[in-house]
Amino acid sequence: GVPTLLRVTPSVLKQHRHRDDAWTAINGKVYNLTPYLPFHPGGEKELMRVAGRDGTKLFLLTHSWVNVDFMLDGSMVGFLVPEPSS
Ligand code: HEM
Repeated sequence: GVPTLLRVTPSVLKQHRHRDDAWTAINGKVYNLTPYLPFHPGGEKELMRVAGRDGTKLFLLTHSWVNVDFMLDGSMVGFLVPEPSS
């Protein structure tokens, strides 16, 4: 079926910062990076720098021409949303 897209806060994103469970947010969309790690032309180490956090700036700095939407659409987890205010 159609997978459910999650609303991911920065603190939840931060929990997914490990090689076998690595998420990042790019342009407001959250992706699971783990399946792509072995295939990244820039290497796993570089890609892991954005694990668990908003990777938009670093991604745009390194290769703004790469279409992340197209590449990682299949591993989209959801959307980055603000922390709920208490
Ligand atoms: C190269 C994808 C994140 C560093 C590439 C290339 C793709 C790609 C497709 C080849 C581009 C080309 O040859 O024109 C992605 C995706 C990312 C991501 C989908 C995130 C979801 C990052 C991050 C960094 C990084 C966060 C650095 C901190 C590099 C470097 C290269 C590269 C250095 C050049 C490798 C080389 O040609 O020797 N990446 N990347 N990437 N990426 Fe990434």
